[in-house]
Amino acid sequence: MLIRDETPEDFDAIHDLTSTAFKPMPYSDGTEAEIVRRLRENGDLTISLVAELDGEILGHVAFSPVAIDGAHDGWFGLGPISVKPERQRQGIGKAMIARGLELLNEMGASGCALIGNPDIYSRVGFSSDGQLKYLDLDTRLVQRIVFRGSPPSGTLQFAPAFES
Ligand SMILES: CC(C)(COP(=O)(O)OP(=O)(O)OC[C@H]1O[C@@H](n2cnc3c(N)ncnc32)[C@H](O)[C@@H]1OP(=O)(O)O)[C@@H](O)C(=O)NCCC(=O)NCCS
Repeated sequence: MLIRDETPEDFDAIHDLTSTAFKPMPYSDGTEAEIVRRLRENGDLTISLVAELDGEILGHVAFSPVAIDGAHDGWFGLGPISVKPERQRQGIGKAMIARGLELLNEMGASGCALIGNPDIYSRVGFSSDGQLKYLDLDTRLVQRIVFRGSPPSGTLQFAPAFES
């Protein structure tokens, strides 16, 4: 399996994959594929990786800038992330996240944050100390990985593409 940057030829496959992967999820509002498209359009798709096997796109992950208490201090957000339903739980998500975090770290990022299931993201190095907040969500779902500097404290704000 190859993990590589997206190219324009992947845009339709990424859109379809994201719609398909999120469709059965109870927390999905059906906008995730559109969020990826808007991030790209706005120039906020800092990293966009696909997992490809035999010419087929099996996974995709996006990373975009985030603010914490209104400040952009080198923090990025992970998501949306999608793996083709019949290929989930086979390590594809983990491999894409690991590569994305490696790239962010190489870029000098302070860290990466996300909202998601701790059972999944604790397996790839994310954790919560309760200091990072998002709306009124349980802070256990608001997780981060710190590359440099102090652990962040405050309210997480995603790129405009996430606002419907
Ligand atoms: C979330 C998603 C991207 C994970 O990708 P994946 O390829 O299935 O994940 P992996 O197989 O790499 O698993 C990574 C780790 O999380 C664990 N994990 C994955 N899915 C899990 C689940 N539903 N519940 C509990 N643990 C889970 C795996 O066991 C693995 O840990 P391990 O390596 O210690 O065994 C994929 O399930 C998906 O596309 N879901 C639909 C879209 C979505 O919900 N996106 C995320 C929104 S936050």
